[in-house]
Amino acid sequence: MCGITGYIGYREAYPIIINGLKRLEYRGYDSAGLVLYNNDEIKLVKTKGKVSDLEKKIQENTDTSGTIGFGHTRWATHGVPNDVNSHPHYSESENLVIIHNGIIENYDTIKKALIERGYTFKSDTDTEVLINLIEEIKKKHKVKLGKAVQLALNEVVGAYAITVFDKEKPDEFVVARLGSPIAIGIGEDNKEFFIASDASPFIEYTKNAIYLEDGEMAIIKRDREIRVRNIKDDALVKYDVLELKLSLDQIEKGGFDHFMLKEIYEQPKAITDTFRGRMLPNEGIIKMQGIDDHKQKFLNANRIIIVACGTSWHAGLVAEYLFEDIARIPVEVEYGSEFRYRNPIITENDVVIAISQSGETADTLAAVKMAKEKGAFVYGVCNVVGSSIARETNAGSYTHAGPEIGVASTKAFTTQITVLTLMALKLGLEKGSISKTEFHQYLIEMGLIPDKVENLLAIDDKVKEIASIYKDATNFLYLGRGFNFPVALEGALKLKEISYIHAEGYPAAEMKHGPIALIDENMPIVVIATKKGHYDKVVSNIQEIKSRNGKIIAVVTEGDTTVKEIADHVIEIPETEEALTPLLTTIPLQLLSYHIAVMLGRNVDQPRNLAKSVTVE
Ligand code: F6R
Repeated sequence: MCGITGYIGYREAYPIIINGLKRLEYRGYDSAGLVLYNNDEIKLVKTKGKVSDLEKKIQENTDTSGTIGFGHTRWATHGVPNDVNSHPHYSESENLVIIHNGIIENYDTIKKALIERGYTFKSDTDTEVLINLIEEIKKKHKVKLGKAVQLALNEVVGAYAITVFDKEKPDEFVVARLGSPIAIGIGEDNKEFFIASDASPFIEYTKNAIYLEDGEMAIIKRDREIRVRNIKDDALVKYDVLELKLSLDQIEKGGFDHFMLKEIYEQPKAITDTFRGRMLPNEGIIKMQGIDDHKQKFLNANRIIIVACGTSWHAGLVAEYLFEDIARIPVEVEYGSEFRYRNPIITENDVVIAISQSGETADTLAAVKMAKEKGAFVYGVCNVVGSSIARETNAGSYTHAGPEIGVASTKAFTTQITVLTLMALKLGLEKGSISKTEFHQYLIEMGLIPDKVENLLAIDDKVKEIASIYKDATNFLYLGRGFNFPVALEGALKLKEISYIHAEGYPAAEMKHGPIALIDENMPIVVIATKKGHYDKVVSNIQEIKSRNGKIIAVVTEGDTTVKEIADHVIEIPETEEALTPLLTTIPLQLLSYHIAVMLGRNVDQPRNLAKSVTVE
């Protein structure tokens, strides 16, 4: 939640910051602001709205010169989105400026104490409390900015990634992190530095970056090597400078109208990238370092507990079917937010798998930490390399989907399923719960999936036509069984989040236990009815819908004739192994929600109230 980025060096800071904010807008977009320093003057501009609104406001009357500055794009936690609550925030004296991603939980107590000492507050934010606390400590202890930040952070409870500037030290800023990410890009010969919530704002300037760990801070000065310290005890920390693999074209739209559409179309490549080098059909093996290194943990596991949120949770549900069916390991799938707060019974023989695209989701991360404390072995399935969950887990596999920028998750979902399928197959073979022949057959089929997805994308126009018929519906139902029940949930989530149409996903057989009451001639119902997945039962469900005049959009296997006769619309997917069908059935549902949202004029890549990575609980 919230994106932060900044620059210090010899170039003009403004274009770097404003472009960086545009790349980080997926993290929050209800307000934006930035600060620049030049000729002994702080220039601070902020506004409710998007980065483009900030840009307009700045163009009206701001001198943007200056080689140091930082900016923020907000997803509101404390205080409604308005100009005043936007970041950056000044301290009382207006000598200090801060941007913040996270939540200061004990802000109220600190605020009351500061008010008693004469501080006044313009905004409703926890961030303004933090900057005034830093100012108060700086005055009281007569210390420099870095020390004041450190002392203040030792008083606060919560999560933060912050950047702080002091007019008295105009050649530096201080950054710190606990629970929210900060990457520091290092320019050549330490002549310039970039900071950002992820590396995308500075990718064209440098490939060298440091990722601060939780509890670390750094004072960033021109021409000086970065020093990272532990916030608690001030000890100097040894850090690694990573070489970034990200490229500029990966984070641009590449001719598509929206990132979401680009990412839907990227799925054949993303799935290939996910299994490349891991799936070796000729050798009859799947190579996954994380599992190979800890094979016994998985083979001796009493059960697997999957923790995740949102779309990643849906991938976890697919994995429940995969692990139980293929590897015969019992699985429980938990929402990170529920799991972390309900004192779950976890033993050393449990393996916990955390699934997260961003690797920063606060509830999933907290669940990981708790499971580790309770002695479980924790495995991460993340997309963002070096993310908090990826680092916190004992081992893991990256999905290699490439950056996912559209807020609605698409390629992250199918690549998570790909990794989880490989894991289930590998373990199934090790355990002997599937034969070598079955294993081989799966690998061959998996290898064909990218081409099948590619061919399937040709149905885009047909899906668009269906979207135009149902775009004004106020409710949708999504039904599926077995492996495709989670796909029904995911289809409904996709529609809700980007079109704002109410949608529910159900196991098809559950329809009779309540949702059937909703069905009339105005209700579109998307039913996944692939050939091998309890087909006859789903066909009966479709008949039940038909008898109540519901409008049926059926996703069927190529060549199906039965459903074609009953359904109002039929979308065909290529045939594959039943366990692999989610990788195909998902695609038309993604396209359907995309087209409906576009037709309704929604902001597809930045739907209201949402943010790409939910770093607050
Ligand atoms: C939906 C969506 C969210 C995320 C959820 C978890 O399209 O994107 O539901 O799936 O916030 O995020 P990650 O996977 O980053 O932990």
